[in-house]
Amino acid sequence: MKPRRLDQILSNYGYCSRSEARLWLRGGRVLVKGVVADSQDDKVDPSTVLVDGAPIECPEGILALFHKPAGCVCSNGKSEGQTVYDLLPARWSRCNPPVATVGRLDRDTTGVLIVTDNGTLVQRWTSPKHKVTKVYEVTVNHDLEPRLVDLFAAGTLMLEGEEKPCLPATLEILGSREARLALIEGRYHQAKRMFASQGCEVTKLHRSRFGDFDLDGLAPGQWRLLPIAQFL
Ligand code: URA
Repeated sequence: MKPRRLDQILSNYGYCSRSEARLWLRGGRVLVKGVVADSQDDKVDPSTVLVDGAPIECPEGILALFHKPAGCVCSNGKSEGQTVYDLLPARWSRCNPPVATVGRLDRDTTGVLIVTDNGTLVQRWTSPKHKVTKVYEVTVNHDLEPRLVDLFAAGTLMLEGEEKPCLPATLEILGSREARLALIEGRYHQAKRMFASQGCEVTKLHRSRFGDFDLDGLAPGQWRLLPIAQFL
């Protein structure tokens, strides 16, 4: 990897601030190629650094699959209660570039959420141009009418306050009040608003798939690192 200053490595990977880096070095906590580092100005390859005896986690960047539980928000705001970042390693919140969610799920929505510090991946997986399929398991408060299948597929459904119709979406009715909805865009509260436009309230929403990713056995609140290099 490209050599970078040691204090920059420690701060960008979220271990400590640049000013604290000197103390970490003085404390012998940082080794480069097995030798205790003594200057924060040294430019080194991050993959040769050990911090407190361990290699830098994810030197190529963070990419993780998270099972978002209900009750937490995807924003960073401290005023909104628990956030997804409270459930992920604290170091990730100090990384630069910052770790962010790929799109957002509402507070009460559960399921697949991708988090990464790689802006290119965020852009690729959120842009409607790339048509990433998001699959939602939906429960509503009224019996579902079969006509919704063709209506959602038509690409003509207008959401309140918007000027362009929703792109065609695939609805599979699974039970009187249960359905599976596949979307290739990610408008604000889109699934809930699509059903609301037809007089149905969504009472439960779970994202079972995001592109090629499913939960793959993760319990709510659990996360797993993904091999970022495969996606760059
Ligand atoms: N659609 C919604 O209405 N909410 C979500 O969280 C995701 C999609």
